[in-house]
This record gives sequence, structure tokens and C-alpha cells, in this order.
Amino acid sequence: MKKLLVTGGAGFIGANFVHYWMNKYSADKVVVLDALTYAGNIANLDSVKDEANFTFVHGNICDQVLIEKLLVEHGIDTLVHFAAESHVDRSITGPDAFIETNIMGTYSLLKAAKKVWLDGAFNDGKVLEEHRFHHVSTDEVYGTLSPTDPAFTEDTAYAPNSPYSASKAASDHLVRAYHHTYGLNVTTSNCSNNYGPFHFPEKLIPLVITNILHDKALPIYGDGQQIRDWLYVEDHAYGIDLVLQNGRIGENYNIGGDNEWANIDIVKTISKLVEQEFVKNKDLGIRFPTAKAAMAQNTESLITYVKDRLGHDRRYAIDATKTNNELNYQPKESFETGIAKTVAWYLNNEEWWKSVMDGSYQNWIAEQYS
Ligand code: NAD
Ligand code: TYD
Repeated sequence: MKKLLVTGGAGFIGANFVHYWMNKYSADKVVVLDALTYAGNIANLDSVKDEANFTFVHGNICDQVLIEKLLVEHGIDTLVHFAAESHVDRSITGPDAFIETNIMGTYSLLKAAKKVWLDGAFNDGKVLEEHRFHHVSTDEVYGTLSPTDPAFTEDTAYAPNSPYSASKAASDHLVRAYHHTYGLNVTTSNCSNNYGPFHFPEKLIPLVITNILHDKALPIYGDGQQIRDWLYVEDHAYGIDLVLQNGRIGENYNIGGDNEWANIDIVKTISKLVEQEFVKNKDLGIRFPTAKAAMAQNTESLITYVKDRLGHDRRYAIDATKTNNELNYQPKESFETGIAKTVAWYLNNEEWWKSVMDGSYQNWIAEQYS
């Protein structure tokens, strides 16, 4: 039985991970620590919040004393670190929060883990032999690829291009150093772009779905030919599970689904899927009367090419051979099934996405890209 501290567990991937974990390992204890920034939402944990083996703590990963207290009081042996500022556009206009949370926050967690687990500061100097610090990172630390470059492997040199990816790269290096220097039992996973339920509607896929439903423009940065490698979020949780169970200490594991798409093609695919749902379910036309699909009009006409993102990485692609071979990892969801589930989730959870979008973000982003 494990006792997990999950940082950022009220965010998109963290919440999906908590659902996955508590469903699969129902005897384990799960403590979520989350600062509930704009991206964190306690409602994402509604279905587990009353479980006896679940605790939510509202707090900041930069608070080392709080982390130490949680590790000791809950007897934590496994820390899964999701908490981060995660949106590239925000990192371009306001990098400070990324440096603070992604770098200083990770450093604070590492210091606390060392003090409690390795130094035995609260346990008469006794080392906790069976401990794990798992750090959740991104493929963006590897930089950008040309259309013909081979996909990123774990040996690809780090070359981050945005303040977001630079801050994640810095945190990856700190995690590595805490293993190499102090012997902390760490693993790191570098995953490609995720999609699925609870994805904050500032990111491409949920933004497009929700804008279609409200008859708003679908902004395509630059020429729309940038490529991302999309993975259903539950398959990310599954990959982390395998790393926690069988990953080698001190190693990095790439997680991805071999599923590259140009942005413009993703947007067109989602437009078609939403149109099909409106044909199948007449109730949608009543709930979303301004949507093009409600009037049998062409949703793709909402596509609007806007100014490109500064320093926009052209292509990401993950080579997950090491994870596939060593950990027997294969995603369970195809893109076809995953994106259909995702569209259905947003159609069925209007209350959720309306409550997290207060309009100010949409106004802000419209200014940036006008
Ligand atoms: P998210 O922005 O949806 O959620 C981040 C969560 O962290 C939120 O709940 C937020 O409240 C919390 N948080 C932020 N700052 C905090 C702080 N100082 N202290 C405590 N909690 C804080 O992010 P996400 O998309 O779920 O990403 C989770 C992790 O996965 C991140 O580390 C990200 O770099 C990584 N990742 C994301 C993707 C992706 O496609 N979204 C892909 C690969 C890796
Ligand atoms: P995003 O979801 O922000 O993820 P990331 O930047 O971490 O890959 O963006 C995915 C891609 O979609 C990226 O190439 C930027 C592009 N994009 C748009 O073209 N329009 C949009 O409105 C958004 C949010 C993203």
C-alpha cells in the first residue's frame, strides 16, 4: 500500500491521475496539495473528495515547511509532482510565476523530501529506504523539430525555447541533481501534449470545442502547420503508473502515443465531430442555439488565422521506445476514440467549463493575438 502526495492534483492531468489511481489502487492513501490557481479547480476532485483515504490540502509547493509537515503527518512514501504553471502563452507575457512555481517550487519539494526521507530530520535520523519522487515533465524541454527530424528520445539534448519549457527543463535538472548528489529516489517522465476531461479551455483542444459551441472564432496561430503529438490524458496516468511500479531510479521516461497532428487538422477534425454530434442529438441545437451546427452551417468558417505565438515551436514528437520496451507501455486509447470521448465530455459538462471561464482570459488572449 502506497501513501501518495500528489501536487497539482486539482489541475487537468493531476485530477485525472488521482481518479485513475484511486480507482485502480483503492487501498492507497492519496493526499492532494494544490494552490488552486486559475487552473486548479476543486470540483475536478468531486467524485473522490468524500473517500476516507483522500485528503485535500490547499497550499503552495513553495512552502517547504508545509511539505515537510505533510510528508511526516501522512507518512508519505511517494510524491508525484504535477503542480506547475503550464500554459506557454502565459509564460510569454508573464514568466515570473513560471520561475517561481516550476523552478523554486520543485526545489522546495526536493529539499523537503531530502530532509524528511534521506536525513530523517523528524525520525531520529532514520532514512526512509522505500521512497519515490516522481517528477512530471514535458517533451517541450527538448525544443523543436523540423518536419523530417527523428522524434525526441530520452537522449535528445535539452533545448527549451519558451519561458515555460525553460522552467520545466530547470526543474528536471534539479530533480536529476538530487538523485546524483544526495541519492534521492527520483524518476522523471516527459510526456507529449495531453487532451481529455478537465482540460482548461485556454489550451487548443478545449478552447476549440467550447468556442464552437458559442459561435466564437477558432484562432489559429501563424499558418496552423505546427505539429503536436497528442495523448489521451488517462494514458499519461497509465504511463506514470508503470514508471512508479517498474521504472529504474534516476531514469527519464518519454510517454507519448505516436500521434502527430498539424494544428489546423485537429481544429478541422473537432469541427466535424461537433457537427456530427449536433446531427445525432437534436437537444444540442436547443442548448447551443448560436452554434453554426445548430443552424446546419459550416463550423470551419469560424477558423481565423491570427498572429503567430512568439518563438512558436514548429514540431514536437515523442519516441517512446524505451518506455514501450522497458515498461511494456502502450496507450490504450486511439486518437479517434479519445477525441470522441473528449468532445462528448465537454458537451455533457457545460457547467464545468462555464464555471472555469469567467471571460477575462478570453479578452486577454484576444488582445495578445489581435
Ligand atoms: P494545469 O495548469 O492544468 O494544472 C496545474 C495545477 O497545479 C493546478 O491545479 C494549479 O492550481 C496547481 N498549481 C500551480 N501552481 C502551484 C503552486 N505553486 N503550488 C501548488 N499548486 C500549484 O497543468 P496540467 O496540464 O495538468 O499539467 C500538469 C503537469 O504536467 C505540469 O507539470 C506540466 O508541465 C506537465 N505536462 C503537461 C502536459 C499537457 O499537455 N498539459 C504535457 C506534458 C507534461
Ligand atoms: P497549447 O494547447 O497551448 O499547447 P502547447 O503550446 O503546450 O503545445 O497549443 C497547442 C498548439 O496549438 C500550439 O502549436 C499553439 C496552437 N494554438 C493555436 O493555434 N491557437 C490557439 O488558440 C491555441 C490556444 C493554441
